[in-house]
Amino acid sequence: MVADPDVETCTKCPELVACRTKIVNGRGDPSANLALVGEAPGRFEDETGVPFVGRSGELLDEALVDLGVDPAMVRITNCVRCRPPDNRNPRVGERQNCRGHLDTELEAIDPSVVLTLGRVPTQELLGEPITVTEHVGEVRELPIAGSTRQLVIGLHPAATLYDRTKRPAFEEALTRAIELAGLY
Ligand code: URA
Repeated sequence: MVADPDVETCTKCPELVACRTKIVNGRGDPSANLALVGEAPGRFEDETGVPFVGRSGELLDEALVDLGVDPAMVRITNCVRCRPPDNRNPRVGERQNCRGHLDTELEAIDPSVVLTLGRVPTQELLGEPITVTEHVGEVRELPIAGSTRQLVIGLHPAATLYDRTKRPAFEEALTRAIELAGLY
């Protein structure tokens, strides 16, 4: 029996609890073979309780559709489920507090491929401090949430907003993950 991956209540991070509107659980297919893991919710995600619904989410959904994949066919979630104040990066302790929620979700969804979106989820799931732009598109096989899974190192969609030269690398990592997950 696999636990329900949605978190209804959590009070582990007092600073985040004090300023969050909603806990942001994952969206998409509850048995997807591909999970996309971002960093933490922003303002629109905090208001709606749905991950990647702001500008980054639009970019992500558009990229998936351009590559022929309905966003509802994949799982989209974050390392941290509550919005950090002023959109600061989630702290290591907050990532650790939320890691159990992410593992429960990944165990329930059981994807064979996980694409990390940017530095925070990459370092969290790899457990090492790497420079994402130097390793984007690489595939690592490692234990995640109780099973060996293929981790594809990807860029955060917002990175392509600020620097359009990053768009090809963002799309290549996404394409690799989609292929490995057998979505074509
Ligand atoms: N950025 C993220 O990393 N996650 C979201 O849900 C939205 C923006």
